[in-house]
Amino acid sequence: MAGAGRVLVASDEIGEKVRELGERISEDYRDEEILLLGILRGAVVFLSDLMRCLELPCEIDFMEVSSYGVETTSSGVVRILKDLEEDITGRHVLIIEDIIDTGLTLSYLRRTLLARKPASLEICALLSKPSRRQVDLEVRYLGFDVPDEFVVGYGIDYAGAYRNLPDIHALDPEAASG
Ligand code: IMP
Ligand code: MG
Repeated sequence: MAGAGRVLVASDEIGEKVRELGERISEDYRDEEILLLGILRGAVVFLSDLMRCLELPCEIDFMEVSSYGVETTSSGVVRILKDLEEDITGRHVLIIEDIIDTGLTLSYLRRTLLARKPASLEICALLSKPSRRQVDLEVRYLGFDVPDEFVVGYGIDYAGAYRNLPDIHALDPEAASG
């Protein structure tokens, strides 16, 4: 697709990593039931692939929080646009996120969700930009570290576009500015 830029992580690598994460999660939570909490909208593709690699009883639910809009830098302001349908009290909750940048979104979300007293709360993120982190955040399951570039594809967008690309790309700066 025009403007998506070079491939950072190819779809076969993603597939392999998702299967590996699925095995680890299945092992760690064996004999438990988990609730996968997908963060809309970027985590939808990752969640739908990951859940099919889990050998566990699992349910899914979603939250939507405010993020970048059409800007490529984080505002640091987190708003809950859509809350969970499920009560998470006493449940094993695994947050599924597409990409962690400053860490502000998930650190806020973690605090909010812990107040609802889940049995456990862990984070599974496909991508992370460690050089951008502003807060300490424990990420139990991580797919790939990526450099400080704006990425798109495999569910991740720029201004709503590119989510359907099977690979993860670094966005062309020209596409971002114009
Ligand atoms: P954080 O609060 O700075 O960690 O921002 C996390 C959110 O910003 C993610 O859920 C993404 O929606 C968005 N984000 C961060 N980096 C990128 C990127 O490179 N491409 C697209 N979205 C991004
Ligand atoms: Mg997001």
